[in-house]
Amino acid sequence: MAETAAGPARQLLFVRELKLTDFRNYARAQLALDARPVVLVGDNGSGKTNLLEAVSLLGPGHGLRGRPYEELCRHDGAGGFAVAAKVVSRQDEVDIGTGLAAGTRDEGAGRTVRIAGKEQSAGALADLVKLVWLIPAMDGLFTGPASERRRFLDRLVLAVDPKMRSPLGRYDRAMRQRNRLFQMREDSRALFEGLEEQMAEAGVAIAAARLEAAARLASLIDRTRAARGDGTPFPWASLALEGTLEGALAEKPATEVEDEFRLILEQGRERDRAAARALEGPHLSDLIVLHGPKDAPAQLCSSGEQKALLIGLILAKAELIKEIEGPSPLVLLDEVAAHLDQARREALFGEILRLGAQAWMTGTDRDLFAPIAQDAQILTVNRGMIGA
Ligand SMILES: Nc1ncnc2c1ncn2[C@@H]1O[C@H](COP(=O)(O)OP(=O)(O)O)[C@@H](O)[C@H]1O
Ligand SMILES: [Mg+2]
Repeated sequence: MAETAAGPARQLLFVRELKLTDFRNYARAQLALDARPVVLVGDNGSGKTNLLEAVSLLGPGHGLRGRPYEELCRHDGAGGFAVAAKVVSRQDEVDIGTGLAAGTRDEGAGRTVRIAGKEQSAGALADLVKLVWLIPAMDGLFTGPASERRRFLDRLVLAVDPKMRSPLGRYDRAMRQRNRLFQMREDSRALFEGLEEQMAEAGVAIAAARLEAAARLASLIDRTRAARGDGTPFPWASLALEGTLEGALAEKPATEVEDEFRLILEQGRERDRAAARALEGPHLSDLIVLHGPKDAPAQLCSSGEQKALLIGLILAKAELIKEIEGPSPLVLLDEVAAHLDQARREALFGEILRLGAQAWMTGTDRDLFAPIAQDAQILTVNRGMIGA
């Protein structure tokens, strides 16, 4: 690492340049940025969330809305979309380009990714650009279905250990194939045994990685509490995992849990056949969150308390990634500032500056961002155009 008289060079991750072509409501847009937080101000429907979504595609996956790529192509455009960025990652600047070529008709087609001019898989972005986000759709995280909390948990897992992408994909594929065997009324024992073997192996790896990631986040939350007390504006969360394999791993060695799960799948075959899906396994696990100071389940807290808890969790996740990686991840906060009272809003800005994150924040009212105006780059968004 480069050292200067002032100590080690500051570790940074930020978007220095962003170009959009035919992306949602942007025909063309170009932004030049520095490492400071970015504030996007504009009326409803102007394109703020779309811009955050474009930034989220600098990481792996389908971005913060999780939508099919065809939906991202501008309606009146040439078909296809492109997002190009220069990203400063530690000391280097890397060109990242991603998009869908015009004429891609294939539903569910993957996007192309180029890193430093070389064609790569989207998964390769995981090592390069770390992201955390909070969007209005996550407001129901604690009250909604377990699947959303599982996705949240698995994003944390991937942030801690990008290599987990492979077992997550393997488990999912094997489970779907097994479901398909039920539909096809297939009962070849060898076929089932092969898939169940894969589900057991990948499933235990996933459950172990979830426990590890949750424990690391919990430990960071504990240390922050010890250092700063309970009086922080964003309440601390207590985390627990609920799931067959996660529970078993707390008591038994992984090899034993793997054998047991294989047996569960084998013995549950007829029951699963009747349901046409697997009724047990890590695809059904849940992340249980408690509001620490109140010692109450998150879903029973007021919506304001849930929001504050969620912000605290997102900030803790960003801090954990920073601890592991060096630089803070990019933090995308859509419509967060407007829902906070002034003291909490100022506290949020303080946390972002302390993290040293290039946080991207949106809002309809510029005045809300006055406390961070000197330390941020404020841009206006108006019907798919971006100005200073
Ligand atoms: N593929 C698309 N092509 C053209 N316009 C789109 C596309 N997808 C979404 N839009 C439009 O983009 C506009 C801005 O959306 P959004 O970024 O969510 O606004 P906001 O500034 O409120 O966050 C919406 O009016 C929406 O209709
Ligand atoms: Mg929006």
